[in-house]
Amino acid sequence: MTDKRVILVTGGTKGIGLAAAQLLAADPANFVVVNAHRALGADKTAELKQQFANDIDVVIGDVAKEEDAKRMVDEVVDRHGTIDGLVNNAGITQDKLLTRMGTDSFEAVLKTNLVGAFNMTKFAMKIMQKKRSGNIVNLSSIAGLHGNIGQANYSASKAGLIGLTKTTAQEGALRGIRCNAVAPGMVKSDMTAKLSDRNIEKWEKQIPLGRFGTPEDIADAIKFLMNNSYITGQVITLDGGLTI
Ligand SMILES: NC(=O)c1ccc[n+]([C@@H]2O[C@H](COP(=O)([O-])OP(=O)(O)OC[C@H]3O[C@@H](n4cnc5c(N)ncnc54)[C@H](O)[C@@H]3O)[C@@H](O)[C@H]2O)c1
Repeated sequence: MTDKRVILVTGGTKGIGLAAAQLLAADPANFVVVNAHRALGADKTAELKQQFANDIDVVIGDVAKEEDAKRMVDEVVDRHGTIDGLVNNAGITQDKLLTRMGTDSFEAVLKTNLVGAFNMTKFAMKIMQKKRSGNIVNLSSIAGLHGNIGQANYSASKAGLIGLTKTTAQEGALRGIRCNAVAPGMVKSDMTAKLSDRNIEKWEKQIPLGRFGTPEDIADAIKFLMNNSYITGQVITLDGGLTI
């Protein structure tokens, strides 16, 4: 048990999720629990924990599975007494032009990115409602605001997250719960590592600030939203000016 603010970050073992978890964990007022999609083993768990300035905990599970989402929230509450913050960061891509995209691929991306966030929010919010406080940050994307060629599934999931964010904010406000989203543009991570050098150069030319974001750039905004007390239902775009 802890008297610190307990924050769960989904998909927090790498990329933006890891950077957000590290930044939040660096604040001694917070206790961070990282969700890993699959079991890590003792060595990998120790390796992960070494990347943090302070002690963290790890819960294993697939956010897309309702039973895993419930179990993970239960584990956080059983081990640490409560849940104060949730960062719905877990996400995947399966890019293809719409006419070539299988329904299975469309559904798989929706299931992880959107249903996963819904599952985690539902179970975390039940705890937050009882204590009449809580804070949720969802990882949307500029693809959810503007669409993106080859990402019918991903952009639909990220647009859906904006609706989920606004409804969560409206329903949560009555019980002191805030919910916001960040909408990053192009960020350096395994997700964008699949892009060819030519494609990366093309994007960089289009980004007014001339570079991809770093996971730390996005983590900074997540921390800001987690710490602020009067912003709710908002979507903050972080894209180096790409969508100006
Ligand atoms: N990288 C970008 O350019 C970019 C831009 C906009 C939004 N985002 C969003 O930011 C978030 C993090 O992306 P990233 O770039 O760090 O990607 P990443 O691939 O490095 O990390 C994704 C994380 O999600 C986890 N994950 C995937 N499916 C999961 C599941 N079913 N259950 C639990 N965990 C699962 C992975 O294990 C991984 O830790 C995603 O939601 C992504 O859509 C990324």
